[in-house]
Amino acid sequence: MDELTRRGFLEKGALSVGAVLASSMLDRQRQSVYGAVDENSKPAILGGEPVSTEPYLSWPQYDKQMEDLFLESLRTLHWCRISDPASCVPDFEKAFAEHCGAKYCIAVNSGTSSLITALAALDVGPGDEVITTPYTYRATVNTILTHYALPILADVDPKTFMIDPKSIEEHITPRTKAILPVHIGGAPANMDEILEIGKRHNIPVVEDACQAHFGRWRDKYLGTLGTFGCFSMQISKNISCGEGGAVFCDDVDLADKAFKIHTHCHGAISEDYMRFEDVMNRGYRSYNFRMTAFQAAILMAQLPTVEDRAKTRNENALYLAELLRDIPGVHPQVIYDGGTSAWHLFMFTINEEEFGCSRNAVFEAIRADEIAATTGYGSDQAEWVKYLTDLNSTPEARRIYSDEELKGLAERTQIPNNDYLCANAIWFFQNQFLAPRSNMDAMAASLRRIQKNAKAIAKALG
Ligand SMILES: Cc1ncc(COP(=O)(O)O)c(C=O)c1O
Repeated sequence: MDELTRRGFLEKGALSVGAVLASSMLDRQRQSVYGAVDENSKPAILGGEPVSTEPYLSWPQYDKQMEDLFLESLRTLHWCRISDPASCVPDFEKAFAEHCGAKYCIAVNSGTSSLITALAALDVGPGDEVITTPYTYRATVNTILTHYALPILADVDPKTFMIDPKSIEEHITPRTKAILPVHIGGAPANMDEILEIGKRHNIPVVEDACQAHFGRWRDKYLGTLGTFGCFSMQISKNISCGEGGAVFCDDVDLADKAFKIHTHCHGAISEDYMRFEDVMNRGYRSYNFRMTAFQAAILMAQLPTVEDRAKTRNENALYLAELLRDIPGVHPQVIYDGGTSAWHLFMFTINEEEFGCSRNAVFEAIRADEIAATTGYGSDQAEWVKYLTDLNSTPEARRIYSDEELKGLAERTQIPNNDYLCANAIWFFQNQFLAPRSNMDAMAASLRRIQKNAKAIAKALG
């Protein structure tokens, strides 16, 4: 095999694989075009034809050329950045940071480790409180618990699905160490209000942008607005390498600290990337959260075409939202003015009274129509209180938290709007929005015929 220079290899590879990735996606899309749906026909759950008999657009995508690029990263033998500074991990960090307008990027091995790193760099520890949202993947909350800090769950706005800034404000105490909004589904949280609250109380904001790559808040990319922005590149994400993550930070001292924390204090991001000397003099409680060269190569290959895919998802999702708004009882997520969602998820709620049957019945009918969907997060107030109480009742946590404090935590967890979303939401997935426009028409027609037959469906399902 020819030896390639690292830079040349990545540049050539990134461009050609990016182009092929886009065209192979089109092939998959052709295979998964839904049939035209007559909205006056019967839904499949009542014996009609399903909308699709094909599997929905698969994710992630790979092709021969991406496979080759991956193999190249194997053959260079620069697998680990610590043993070889020529690893392509720093290339990915620079490219991702540059693309999004962040000063520093630290590539890590998961979204969970990106959040742990950011919270550690802010010295979050036992006795501290971190305010976040209950309407999230539990990793967000677990990373707070990892530091033996208390997750304080603010309620959400049921129209936008996002953490409610008013509820954040109500939960601030002298122990609040960080505010951790989640851009859930890829849509932006209300960053103007959240950043203002953080500034007024002098509390750093850490963005959980694990689902929000390339989403925006006005002219800025999500993940670049807070003190830290945290990403996941796990398999389902809009840019993925199976497992992976990244941390954005504009403050050089904090970025250096986060870098050290992710790699047992070797090196600093503002200097050379990896340095073995001085480790004992630059001590933080630290980890090995390093990304491998294989992960970085796969991510590099996707960067040139991420904007095309983001644009397609956005156009299709806005189009579908318009179609759904006309259906009684269907309420697509509202995106704040000035925000652009990454559309990792397309989320909407069903109002049972207006629609004519329950959310669960609608979900069953959508699935019978062979359209991929989920009812999403299901942890309501009672479940969250039990979870937080159990995890803070372990012997080591009891050395920090008293009965009184745990009772107070339970009483402060008042999240009725989260519970409404858990009971009434349905989600579609990002890859469905890479399909042709006709698929959006079919999805809307499916929901319309389900609504027209809502009473019969409710009856059939008992
Ligand atoms: C909102 C959110 N935060 C954090 C994470 C954790 O990321 P990872 O699974 O890469 O550790 C995820 C992953 O799905 C997520 O969706």
